[in-house]
Amino acid sequence: MKSEIKPLKKKIAILISGKGTNMEAIIKDSKTINYPGIVKFVLSNNPDALGIIKAKNLGIKTFVFPVNKNHSMEIFEKRLLNLLIKEKIELICLAGFMKILSKYFLQNYNGTVLNIHPSILPSIKGLNTHQRILEKDIRTHGATVHTVTSELDSGKILGQVTISILKKDTPKNLASKLIIKEHKLYTKVIRNIITGKKTIIQEN
Ligand code: GAR
Repeated sequence: MKSEIKPLKKKIAILISGKGTNMEAIIKDSKTINYPGIVKFVLSNNPDALGIIKAKNLGIKTFVFPVNKNHSMEIFEKRLLNLLIKEKIELICLAGFMKILSKYFLQNYNGTVLNIHPSILPSIKGLNTHQRILEKDIRTHGATVHTVTSELDSGKILGQVTISILKKDTPKNLASKLIIKEHKLYTKVIRNIITGKKTIIQEN
């Protein structure tokens, strides 16, 4: 009897610092039938990250490597590199991970690193993007998925989604309007990456 050979699934790790709603969307997508990847673990630098509880509830292995005055980012990155080798991770998805990965880390990890950022890059890099867009006379906001390089929010753009800004919008409600679109965008881009599709996603 012929045994069916299943194609290998890309091994994914997700790094978070907070709520982990993008992480949750990625894990849920990865549990759908014939998904070409597998989420091997979720790691947080923040012991109080809500996303860690969510990942556990979804049956995913979790790690917390705290970054504080006793544990530097350098230590975090060394521990992470060991874990990536051990778990044979080919793709890292940063999902609300609020630390900057160093040049050393990026040079020593030979898989792909993706990030989702809440602005239409290259506009509004860094923090507080919802507040900062409202301070400008701009009517469109959005999010970008890009590859991670040693320069902040500057890698290759793989997908973008836009939303309209209304007069009554506040940073808080802009964030809640955008996050739903982020989940859709990020999961689509990850599927493209693991299946080798080169199309850049542009959505409204
Ligand atoms: C998301 O809006 C993500 O784009 C942003 O943090 C939020 C995390 O939410 N990321 C950054 O600002 C990275 N510079 P989540 O934890 O619910 O996915």
